[in-house]
Amino acid sequence: MEKKHQLYEGKAKRVYETEDPALVIVSYKDDATAFDGEKKGTIRGKGAVNNRMSNFLMQMLAEQGIATHYVKELSDRDTVVKKVDIVPLEVIVRNISAGSFARRYGVEEGIEFGQPTFEFSYKNDELHDPLINTSHALALGLAGEDEVREIREAALKVNDILREFFAGCGVRLVDFKLEFGRLPDGSIVLADEISPDTCRFWDAATGEKLDKDRFRRDLGDVEEAYQEMMRRVFGEE
Ligand code: TMP
Ligand code: ASP
Repeated sequence: MEKKHQLYEGKAKRVYETEDPALVIVSYKDDATAFDGEKKGTIRGKGAVNNRMSNFLMQMLAEQGIATHYVKELSDRDTVVKKVDIVPLEVIVRNISAGSFARRYGVEEGIEFGQPTFEFSYKNDELHDPLINTSHALALGLAGEDEVREIREAALKVNDILREFFAGCGVRLVDFKLEFGRLPDGSIVLADEISPDTCRFWDAATGEKLDKDRFRRDLGDVEEAYQEMMRRVFGEE
């Protein structure tokens, strides 16, 4: 399968048409942004890490009953996925306080919750992806009631599966962001990526941050953290 016309370029990926109208090729870049693109940089090797890790996790989730967009890995950076219409909601699940949760509620990072939290942000860069509740998402027609229910159930199941998997890698899954898409028949599938760009990973023993917060917060050793997560997921290579 080959890349044809470029359909879209996002902050971290490009999307290309293929000869099959139902499939697209996603190509992961090393570009990194934060704070709605205000902060820009490059994380060497990030594209390959995110592509390979995301594909591995999507396959693991598919085996456990989560419908995903994943089709086939073509190379270190390129993957064939089903073409979807993205639901404009960022779906965020948290197990431990961090980031915007800690800021919004004035609490420290690192508080382990009794049960995971679930929230939506409206995927809209101009508005800076504001937090949105379900009734507002329904009012704006961003998704239907059944879709919201299905997305919530899938996201919480993804959390159970990933939390256990990463615990086995010596990593605490602090929080993460998912995106879902609609196939032409209207069914909902997990789309976008699951990677150190979209999750917070803390080393279980030391608490060291092994995700994009190293870039967002200028903590240094950004590339090393991505490579370390790759080793944790795939074992020594
Ligand atoms: P937050 O604490 O900044 O709201 O982030 C929650 C999770 O969502 C965290 O794992 C990072 C991820 N995330 C993205 O994937 N994209 C984004 O644009 C933002 C702001 C967060
Ligand atoms: N990817 C988002 C942006 O650029 C933010 C983030 O991940 O922090 O702007």
